[in-house]
Amino acid sequence: MNQKPLPDAVPALFPNPSDRARIGGWLTLELEEALKRIQAGPVAPMLDVQDFRVELERFDFSTPQPLEQALRWTIARMEHGIVQMSNPRYFGLFNPGANFPAQCADRIAGLFNPQLASSASSPLPVALESHVIRAVARRAAMDEQVAGHFATGGSEANFTALLCALTAAHPSFSADGVRAFAGPVKFYTSRDCHIAWLKIAHQAGVGRTALHLVDTDGAGRMDPEALVHAIAEDRAAGTVPVMVVATAGTTGGGMIDPLHACADIARQQGLWYHVDAAWGGAVLASNRLRGLLDGIERADSITIDAHKWLATTMGCAIFATSRAELLSEAFHASTSFMPSSVSSVDPYLNTVQWSRRFLGLRLFLALAAAGWEGLGAHVERGVEVIDRIKQSLIARRWSIANDSALAVLAAIPPAELGDVRALVRRVVASGRAWVAPTTFEGRDVVRICATNGETTMNDVHALIAALNERP
Ligand SMILES: Cc1ncc(COP(=O)(O)O)c(C=O)c1O
Repeated sequence: MNQKPLPDAVPALFPNPSDRARIGGWLTLELEEALKRIQAGPVAPMLDVQDFRVELERFDFSTPQPLEQALRWTIARMEHGIVQMSNPRYFGLFNPGANFPAQCADRIAGLFNPQLASSASSPLPVALESHVIRAVARRAAMDEQVAGHFATGGSEANFTALLCALTAAHPSFSADGVRAFAGPVKFYTSRDCHIAWLKIAHQAGVGRTALHLVDTDGAGRMDPEALVHAIAEDRAAGTVPVMVVATAGTTGGGMIDPLHACADIARQQGLWYHVDAAWGGAVLASNRLRGLLDGIERADSITIDAHKWLATTMGCAIFATSRAELLSEAFHASTSFMPSSVSSVDPYLNTVQWSRRFLGLRLFLALAAAGWEGLGAHVERGVEVIDRIKQSLIARRWSIANDSALAVLAAIPPAELGDVRALVRRVVASGRAWVAPTTFEGRDVVRICATNGETTMNDVHALIAALNERP
């Protein structure tokens, strides 16, 4: 055997313990200082992307630079190069200012870097994630036998639901795909659903036309009569309905589809019932608000994004199902190289992913540190913030199009403030606050959502001032 010593580990990649501790400590302090600046600074990116591309050209990776220098550069550019979720005047899409326990979880996961594909490689993380899933499912009053996992986002969790529904709908789907069905497949959401369902239909191989967008009731909720009608019409046309999806907290208006009525229809029709509570599912944390999701317990499967209102780091979603056997059926595989092969336990045999990150630690640590009470208080605080904004806007002759109990407004400005989209552009460009334009029941609205757990009344006043500035 060659007796020469092995070369040293590459120090830039694996610094010695004291350099590591020094840089790690320095980074923690730098990030704290950056957070203060982000919270006080503009919400929108203030970066000239053309200039940045030119700057990037300097990184041809031929001459390494000290890590601290690269870290300092990265933080400085990030401070101007993104919409700042950590800014308490971000009232935008559901992306949260991440809670601190979840950020700690990312550091821990980064160090241990566990591989969660298999229960033999990661017995502790697999058991821990399944404990958290069961705890969430209990809050939703789902069947005790619930199974599930953490996914990268609501889209992956919803994709999982469609695969389970298809697998449940025909015993040969797993082997033959859509050829198993006697006609084209159909599934149902309201037309106010998250439109990633179209991509999901594409991915699953059933095609985008498989998604039947059912009419809403004029208030942003699925109309149950329209759903019954749609299913009957599709059956008469020779297509094969497989799943009803109720949205619990629509993306635009925070509306909750009638969960019991949708469950009744799905049962009567023999269809899989999925509740997409990607955002609204967070209210399960609050004893005061969880009743809003009454009926979710009847779902075959649910989606809840912890990286939305529960404020973990991106992306961290929950998929849970009372029909555990369908996961094993949809995702089974067999190979000799994996260290374990335990049906219904090993994540690689029950999920879309193979290699997987320790996502569930983020919600576990948030729950461990805050309890349901703390997470519930965070969610209730968001509703309170939105309520204050609503009162201020109504006092300034705005009207509110959505009658939602959740933390989002679909607001219509008075005529003198001009067109909604132009108004939103002005607010965003000012950097003083961030809101989004959308449509609700056919009308253009300003979508204002509480996403940051540290928003103060000063931030609310800044938003109201920015929204009411005349063109
Ligand atoms: C109701 C709903 N479902 C699904 C999604 C997609 O989730 P993700 O962005 O985590 O993939 C969203 C995102 O906003 C959503 O609001």
